[in-house]
Amino acid sequence: MNVTEAVRSRLSCRAFLDKPVPEEIVREIIDAARFAPSGGNLQPWHLHVLTGEPLADLLGRIAPRFDLLPKGEGAEYQIYPHPLAEPYHARRFKCGADLYAALGIPREDKPGRYRQFARNFAFFGAPVGLFVSIDKSMGPPQWSDVGMFVQTLMLVARDHGLHTCAQEAWTFWHKTLNERLDLPEDRLVFCGIALGYGDMDAPVNGWRTERAEVDDFTAFHGFQPRTGQSPT
Ligand SMILES: Cc1cc2nc3c(=O)[nH]c(=O)nc-3n(C[C@H](O)[C@H](O)[C@H](O)COP(=O)(O)O)c2cc1C
Repeated sequence: MNVTEAVRSRLSCRAFLDKPVPEEIVREIIDAARFAPSGGNLQPWHLHVLTGEPLADLLGRIAPRFDLLPKGEGAEYQIYPHPLAEPYHARRFKCGADLYAALGIPREDKPGRYRQFARNFAFFGAPVGLFVSIDKSMGPPQWSDVGMFVQTLMLVARDHGLHTCAQEAWTFWHKTLNERLDLPEDRLVFCGIALGYGDMDAPVNGWRTERAEVDDFTAFHGFQPRTGQSPT
């Protein structure tokens, strides 16, 4: 699989097969992802990888408290700006609407939406759950480095035939996570990543998110005008 194929075939996978991922494959993926770039080569990412009993134990501590959702224990960082400006607000809204439409959950079915949201905290059935954390002292440039690490990991996973879903939603259980992962005081969980073999027949995996076109977000400077276009 070349890089473009990995990029094009990555999606947020929200249903996985009940098939374990061998430790050596998980290690190979992380071993490649560690070559992600970072400003000053700080490599400001930290990782916890859970499977089997420790994963079941963690999920089992959270599931009985689903009545606290959607806020859980409260977020440790603000996921989205409030208010969310356009066009971002509309994109977020459409993404959610399309997800629930794919599952046949009507907008007014709040319990149904909460049940689907709660699937986050089962890692959508993935056999491996990763948690990516960062020192609280780090700023936006280092958070972006961690994002590069996450994307690199997700792309390498594709090369192994695996799928992933990055999950900021885990911040809603940060107290439990900090305790179970024995995180130092000065560290914060940015996101979880579900990792496993995707159940691509599941309806939740049967839709695709949209993207803005290149010219909607790119200004080209100094290139020859494209055929049929006059220079500006
Ligand atoms: C850092 C990050 C956190 C995310 N958090 C969640 C999450 O908590 N739950 C979820 O279902 N999807 C989550 N997503 C998936 C996004 O909704 C998804 O990437 C976006 O809609 C684009 O769709 P695609 O990944 O299928 O291309 C997250 C993605 C990223 C990059």
